[in-house]
Amino acid sequence: MINVGVIGVGTVGTSVVKILEQNKTMITARAGDEIRVKTGVVRNLNKKRDLNIALCNDPYSVVNDPEIDIVVELMGGVDEAFEVVKSALKNGKAVVTANKALLAYHRYELQEMAKDIPFEYEASVAGGIPIINALRDGLSANHIQSIQGIMNGTCNYMMTKMMNEGVAFDAILKEAQELGYAEADPTFDIGGFDAAHKLLILGSIAYGIDAKPEEILIEGIEHVTQEDIAFAREFGYVIKLLGIAKKEGDEVEMRVHACLIRKDAMIAKIDGVMNGVSVVGDKVGETLYYGPGAGGDATASAVVANIIDIVRSGKRAPMLGFDKPLERGLKLKDKNAIVSKYYLRLKVEDKPGVLAKIAALFGDHNISVETMLQRPVDGSYANLLFATHEAKEGDIQRVITALETLDFVAAKPVMIRIV
Ligand code: NAP
Ligand code: HSE
Repeated sequence: MINVGVIGVGTVGTSVVKILEQNKTMITARAGDEIRVKTGVVRNLNKKRDLNIALCNDPYSVVNDPEIDIVVELMGGVDEAFEVVKSALKNGKAVVTANKALLAYHRYELQEMAKDIPFEYEASVAGGIPIINALRDGLSANHIQSIQGIMNGTCNYMMTKMMNEGVAFDAILKEAQELGYAEADPTFDIGGFDAAHKLLILGSIAYGIDAKPEEILIEGIEHVTQEDIAFAREFGYVIKLLGIAKKEGDEVEMRVHACLIRKDAMIAKIDGVMNGVSVVGDKVGETLYYGPGAGGDATASAVVANIIDIVRSGKRAPMLGFDKPLERGLKLKDKNAIVSKYYLRLKVEDKPGVLAKIAALFGDHNISVETMLQRPVDGSYANLLFATHEAKEGDIQRVITALETLDFVAAKPVMIRIV
């Protein structure tokens, strides 16, 4: 009998407890031993819950319980979860977590501490999709050339509903929260931070890049309006939040932001809470992973798979698939050197000379325009919509700053990268 302690019995933790109970016979056959949840930990013991397990509100009573073999951390957050997980490892307990925020900041220290103790985190990236397994194990013969995809279910659900049904941003965020997709603090989702946490985990496995969220380019979907969606449609694009890691020479660029994607591209068709990640290896070519990226059962499916894996296997690989230091010499690419095409929307006064001044400013900043449209707004204003040729991130940021100071520019310019 293997005893599990589940620290955090909320959306994901409740599903983990239920899957272990409902699929018990099959899970025991696959794991080679019976797995039972000995204790669950919650913050509020007075909340009504539909669960048949012993509950307490002290995570340390689980990590210090000599009968517990595996600690499953599903409480979320960074600092407290880090202390709890460190205590579990100090006590020699195997750990399973779905906490990408924790790993985005502490994955290397945890790998160092865990050494031979099993430490698994499949659910931390792309919910129910076994992307960690695929990247760390299935593609281990390859140099990874790129990782690109939809890594946040909440944003994809929101963008899909906004594009297809015209639902307002706030209403659809509330819906995503009610469905258990969003983080406890949903600004992590809509601000792009959650996808960035996931990208950093994948970036470590693929490239050994040891970066913190603050070091990479992160933007969310908060600035995308129905107006942008309508224009995207008119140009033949959809808008999605993507995470991108790409190796070029001895650099790896890493970024998360909303993207205009041609509507006939495969990734443009991944809708709702589904995630889709493309990984290109030098030997295998492009591989694609698709499935539910958030929600209790989908995420718990990956958590329980990790528990089963720990129970049935003897010898473990290091947590990130390699021992530090990883001698590949790759470094993070300067975000200002990233090259992309850009969509720009400028609300300007509709008067002579405006377009010429903007064109001159573009020229001064090495920005070349591929397409341009003008749409009138409220009589005396116009929206100018530009699609640029490839330009450098640093140049586009500088031109936006310059545009913001011009007196005929009537609103903050909107920029979305074209992928
Ligand atoms: P959740 O519904 O908010 O559940 C969190 C649980 O942890 C709750 O049971 C809460 O207790 C408990 N908890 C929090 N702080 C605690 C503390 N200090 N002491 C004791 N208990 C505490 O969150 P979730 O959606 O299940 O997410 C859990 C983790 O999985 C997070 O790291 C999240 O990023 C990750 N994840 C979530 C999803 C998803 O789709 N939801 C997908 C992938 C990964 P109460 O019940 O009393 O509040
Ligand atoms: N809030 C996250 C998302 C949960 O929406 O993708 C899954 O990691």
